[in-house]
Amino acid sequence: MAILGGTGNIGEGLVVRFAAETSHTIIVGSRDASKAADRANEYESRLTNHGIEQTIDHADNTTAAGDADIIVLAIPPHHVGDTIEELVDQEVLTGQLLISSVVGMQGDELGLHFDPPSVGSVTELVAERAPASTATAGVFHNLATDRLADLDADFDVDTLVVATDEEVRQQVIALVNELARIRALSAGPLANVAEVESVTPLVITIAGYNDNRHDVGVRFT
Ligand SMILES: NC(=O)c1ccc[n+]([C@@H]2O[C@H](COP(=O)([O-])OP(=O)(O)OC[C@H]3O[C@@H](n4cnc5c(N)ncnc54)[C@H](OP(=O)(O)O)[C@@H]3O)[C@@H](O)[C@H]2O)c1
Repeated sequence: MAILGGTGNIGEGLVVRFAAETSHTIIVGSRDASKAADRANEYESRLTNHGIEQTIDHADNTTAAGDADIIVLAIPPHHVGDTIEELVDQEVLTGQLLISSVVGMQGDELGLHFDPPSVGSVTELVAERAPASTATAGVFHNLATDRLADLDADFDVDTLVVATDEEVRQQVIALVNELARIRALSAGPLANVAEVESVTPLVITIAGYNDNRHDVGVRFT
């Protein structure tokens, strides 16, 4: 599994959780291969401090994507289109599952607001730019990044899964449910993903307006 932007906030959490709790080979992707190597070493050290000996691979984004069976996008929204186009140009999208955690947001003095691309959501943009045969999904949008990355944190949240079809949705739900403390729920086809993505700025705004709620998440009961 390659996490493109595995050097950033959400990327860090996804890398350490999947490395700590599953048997997937995890590749930290970055635009800069040496930055990926540094971050992978840092993550390995953190896992060692938790008594987990796990190798984390690293590469530039294109190499990481080409070597993986699952590609997770964890980069800023405005760079998703270019990043997918680069993967297409380099012909590395050859049947991998492509997952987006990315949300378009704009902040002002009142809070953070949903700011999707014109196609309606970043996940749909990913599906539009990838080869038509690419299985595409959206998940991990509403997770609190600090708690995701903190293996000691009390963490019991849901994440909503949208995907191109039911088979891909079930594949992603099974993948997420390999993690101990994150429950995956289906939110149906890609057409529903704008509603899912739009919860992320709301969660971050709630965190900002409420003391001791820095890392709120969503749980459906
Ligand atoms: N609660 C949350 O905050 C939350 C939860 C889930 C998902 N998300 C979404 O996750 C995405 C990433 O958020 P984040 O806070 O992790 O972002 P971030 O830390 O600011 O950036 C993630 C990584 O993106 C890469 N990057 C920066 N500029 C780039 C460019 N021009 N082209 C390609 N890659 C670039 C950088 O990696 P390199 O420099 O190593 O290439 C960086 O480490 C956002 O879209 C966000 O909406 C946020």
